[in-house]
Amino acid sequence: MSRTSLLAGNWKMHTTTSEARQLAAAIANQPAPSNREVLLAPPMTALAVVGETVKNSNVLLGSQNICWEEQGAFTGEISPAMLKDVGGSMAIIGHSERRAIFAETDSLINQRVQGALKYGIIPILCIGETLEEREAGTTMTILEGQLRAGLVDTPLTSGADLVIAYEPVWAIGTGKTASTAQAQEVHLFIRGLLADIYQKDIADQIRILYGGSVNPANVDELMAQEDIDGALVGGAALKADSFLRIINYQ
Ligand code: PGA
Repeated sequence: MSRTSLLAGNWKMHTTTSEARQLAAAIANQPAPSNREVLLAPPMTALAVVGETVKNSNVLLGSQNICWEEQGAFTGEISPAMLKDVGGSMAIIGHSERRAIFAETDSLINQRVQGALKYGIIPILCIGETLEEREAGTTMTILEGQLRAGLVDTPLTSGADLVIAYEPVWAIGTGKTASTAQAQEVHLFIRGLLADIYQKDIADQIRILYGGSVNPANVDELMAQEDIDGALVGGAALKADSFLRIINYQ
């Protein structure tokens, strides 16, 4: 089953609008190889300017979070309609920083996933275990819990409507990456769970990204794994040359 790979840059809380415009232009000016999608997820203040900058390119725009309502009294949130208004089509949901620093729960994350789908935004649902959980041997249990809870009451007609990102918390921003074997093992496990939640043909279409210290030096090996369909990149997505190298993995 061939899945279009997705290379996503999560800019987190970085870039002023002028920095964002420059970085987005540098990425958009270098077309990605065919059968690869590129997504930029800038901070909220730069969504519009990045949307403008990538408008006539193949680069996609995403947000780092998304609310489930179209509008209303939800201070600090943006809606799927607002994201679409600036050209966005995907949203990162349940990133470990949202879970750990901002206390987002599985049920809140599930509401966000459902809301995104309802309004035609592709959710990138992030799951991942902490170092303590890995050392305690509970990685798969934790991941299964996060995945099932994040996808409660979330029917799909096509696997192309959902993206999962596996990001071991201990690998995010630390320079440590899961070994390719560790990552592939987890991705295969996640695909098996997706086949159980949905059906095998849908699970086979769902892209599962790896995230956590992906960089130009390790991307080729990660992307060579059967069930790794892309990368969610933080630090290395903030410099055009390193992100372009990641997009052009071998
Ligand atoms: P990192 O972040 O590439 O800087 O480790 C990845 C992420 O948190 O999405």
